[in-house]
Amino acid sequence: PAPGWATEADVVVVGSGVAGLTVALRCAAAGAKVTVVTKARLDDGSTRWAQGGIAAALGEGDTPEQHLDDTLVAGAGLCDETAVRALVTEGPDAVRRLIGTGARFDADDDTGEILLTREGGHHRRRIAHAGGDATGAEISRALVEAVRAAGIETVENALVLDLLKDASGRAAGVTLHVMGEGQRDGVGAVRAGAVVLATGGMGQVFSATTNPAVSTGDGVALALRAGAEVSDLEFVQFHPTVLWLGPEAEGQQPLVSEAVRGEGAYLVDADGVRFMQGQHELAELAPRDIVAKGILRRMLEQNAEHMYLDARHFGARMWEHRFPTILAACRAHGIDPVTEPIPVAPAAHYASGGVRTDLSGRTTVPGLYACGEVACTGVHGANRLASNSLLEGLVFAERIAEGIAERIAEGISEGIASAPTSQAQQALQAQQALQTQQTPEAATGEGPLLPPEARYTIQRIMTAGAGVLRSAESLAHAAAQLEQVHDGAAETLRRDGKTAEPGVDTWEATNLLLVARVLVAAALRREETRGCHWREDRPDRDDPAWRRHLLVTLGPGDT
Ligand code: SIN
Repeated sequence: PAPGWATEADVVVVGSGVAGLTVALRCAAAGAKVTVVTKARLDDGSTRWAQGGIAAALGEGDTPEQHLDDTLVAGAGLCDETAVRALVTEGPDAVRRLIGTGARFDADDDTGEILLTREGGHHRRRIAHAGGDATGAEISRALVEAVRAAGIETVENALVLDLLKDASGRAAGVTLHVMGEGQRDGVGAVRAGAVVLATGGMGQVFSATTNPAVSTGDGVALALRAGAEVSDLEFVQFHPTVLWLGPEAEGQQPLVSEAVRGEGAYLVDADGVRFMQGQHELAELAPRDIVAKGILRRMLEQNAEHMYLDARHFGARMWEHRFPTILAACRAHGIDPVTEPIPVAPAAHYASGGVRTDLSGRTTVPGLYACGEVACTGVHGANRLASNSLLEGLVFAERIAEGIAERIAEGISEGIASAPTSQAQQALQAQQALQTQQTPEAATGEGPLLPPEARYTIQRIMTAGAGVLRSAESLAHAAAQLEQVHDGAAETLRRDGKTAEPGVDTWEATNLLLVARVLVAAALRREETRGCHWREDRPDRDDPAWRRHLLVTLGPGDT
């Protein structure tokens, strides 16, 4: 639909988690006029739900090099080492700047030193946390307050629809639908020379996820429609320990942080037997793909719906002091971790892939940037290391802001399409380009908008066919079912001239379908098991054949 209103900025930031708000603050500090648009309220995204913490080599004896090693091992051969190096070397100072912005981390009462915990895949204690297990909430609080104090314009309840481009093809702003009262109600536009996608993940593409309801892949869908390159979408991370609420549980599920295992909790099966020992030198603290697989294997062997996380030995005081959020969530569901083991099962948690960027957050569309979970900077490879996500949002947000600030004086300039890339990168790109058969029609209202209930159909298809354990057969079946969902809406459009009424639910369902189709196409194509992509029919990692990325772009003619 044509925008009914328009506003202007130098930079429009879409999303308000750690990545979006950090970009906004840093760009504003550099003198840019910034507008932040966000789908719900400023603190409604995934950041607020992060429990365990933020990883950085802050502890005595720890080094960025050790953090790099752990990140590369978790990433199973697909990390971009240069990007990881930027993450781990710039991380500690970025965390200190976050503290300067107002975030309060848990610290030793006597020394004032930041307290650090461990999580899966880390050989050291290097996870800073806040409020015990409410790290994301504290970071969100501090950043929201700072954004308000800086007087940055924010537009809440605004679902971004599509990228605006100028005649040369560079990003020129976004269209968005604002819900609710006021003169901004309806479809409008923010025109800006730089567009930063920080929309978070796509966990809602599956039935059960730790992600909030707003995580519907909007940024990846927008980027695909805008012709940007997307990478590594098959690598969906399933968090091993999500509170199991029954076979019918759908939507956002309570997380039981890795930090609980970091402090000594262990996994047991239906007979009370520990099963991670012997599977990996780090046992329960192996990288999370290994723990998720270990849990699922034992569930299949025992025909059980879940396993248990046992932390009764913490005692009431430690539970109350160190993990108050998790304790409250468990008790709200009738489980008392002080006296009983917690039923847990894996659930969708994090998109390791996303919109491909360079080290300055630039996508392949000039003027379009991506940051945080929506982006694929190369730091996660085939499996993100625990607590590297908040750090990535922080470090790459600062990099984006630095680049934008540098260019503001001379006008916002080019994206990575015209930036120098190494020969190796170019060769990789040429070799790996995967043009999927996808539809560019969508949330503009020109293509079929899906009815809201399609969201649940998509989630069920994805959970059954493209979940933690996949095969060629399950993926092909999922692909065919997703095509039926698309074709049904296209047929309605042909017959009736319109499909569902435009609105947040319909646009979200449409975005979910687009990202689901690309994800399944990539998962089918990757004929191996690597990181968090687990193919039952291809159980081994296939190096060097599959030590490469699957890149996806939608061409104008794709249908
Ligand atoms: C957790 O607290 O277990 C989540 C940490 C993460 O996803 O990085």
